[in-house]
Amino acid sequence: MQYMGVYVIVMRWLLWLWVVCMSVSAELQRFEHPVVKTDDSLSFLAVGDWGRRGAYNQSLIAHQMGIIGEKLNIDFVVSTGDNFYERGLTSVNDPKYPESFTQIYTAQSLQKQWYIVLGNHDYRGNALAQLSSVLRKMDSRWLCLRSFLVNTKIADFFFIDTNPFVDKYWSNPKHYKHDWRGVVPRQRYLSTLLKDLDFALRNSTANWKIVVAHHTIRSVGHHGDTQEIVDQILPILEANNVRAYINGHDHCLEHMSSTNGQIQFLTTGGGSKAWKGDLSRLNQGGYEFYYDGQGFLSAEIRPTDAEFAFYDVSGRVLHRFNISNSKGLHSSM
Ligand SMILES: *[C@@H]1O[C@H](CO)[C@@H](O)[C@H](O)[C@H]1NC(C)=O
Ligand SMILES: *[C@@H]1O[C@H](CO)[C@@H](O)[C@H](O)[C@H]1NC(C)=O
Ligand SMILES: *[C@@H]1O[C@H](CO)[C@@H](O)[C@H](O)[C@H]1NC(C)=O
Repeated sequence: MQYMGVYVIVMRWLLWLWVVCMSVSAELQRFEHPVVKTDDSLSFLAVGDWGRRGAYNQSLIAHQMGIIGEKLNIDFVVSTGDNFYERGLTSVNDPKYPESFTQIYTAQSLQKQWYIVLGNHDYRGNALAQLSSVLRKMDSRWLCLRSFLVNTKIADFFFIDTNPFVDKYWSNPKHYKHDWRGVVPRQRYLSTLLKDLDFALRNSTANWKIVVAHHTIRSVGHHGDTQEIVDQILPILEANNVRAYINGHDHCLEHMSSTNGQIQFLTTGGGSKAWKGDLSRLNQGGYEFYYDGQGFLSAEIRPTDAEFAFYDVSGRVLHRFNISNSKGLHSSM
């Protein structure tokens, strides 16, 4: 009987310890990006799926980004991943880094902070190399982490590494070896990330909450929806008034909206190779715009409304739209 008592006490104590440890999960790393414009507005460009040493119109896109970046006086640039083809970087000394990044995005207006996530092609090489501070020393614009937060005065950005969520990279990796160092054990990594994302979103009081990741949530393009992200991340975004989800992965420019109009799904995977010829699914619900070619996205965020635009390789605006922020949306309801 006495043994049972001690056993119960020890078990209770272990359970308490477990609860405490689980509830203080690691916080996502946070960066403050100062808003310098006097009207509190913020603008940025977003591009994905780009690093090909300038080939497949990467250089032309970079040139147009420079022009639009100057026109909008952008505060920073976002990369939605697949930064280096075909297999990421081999090491921090891989010449693809200067040849596909530093020597390509040379315009004055692009000499700003770049906030960068990893894509699935980046995981096929040495993923840790892209996360290394050595790259930041070589080119101070480079800031690539798995998942992190960027706070500005009027908007909070949530950068999420969606790669480990995708089942087929684990169960059917074909001939690719994924660099999962720092990601295993997978289930613990994913549950911690989901908890951290949910917490960070709930803790945010910004007018705008914008999420950036590599994989699609809603897409009529080549890869379509990413079911794992729809199942596991989308409910968290819906519950927390996220207004825009910006991704790459499909090599196109695309705008879909959720059925209640709360979330805009913006695919900007047109940084280099495109023209897949995927035009068969355009009648899917929520469809707003699809362009099967190269280009990029701009965003101008103001306290009460935001304007997004997609551009092609010649800098022509293909699609432009405005949305109001979540607080504006609620107060008008
Ligand atoms: C580059 O862009 C032009 C204009 O859109 C297009 O005609 C051409 O096919 C593109 N080149 C490649 C390699 O995608
Ligand atoms: C919650 O948000 C506040 C203000 O934005 C920030 O200072 C704090 O670090 C956040 N807490 C966590 C745990 O993220
Ligand atoms: C978006 O709003 C701005 C003013 O806030 C306006 O100048 C612009 O024309 C609007 N764009 C669209 C596409 O409605």
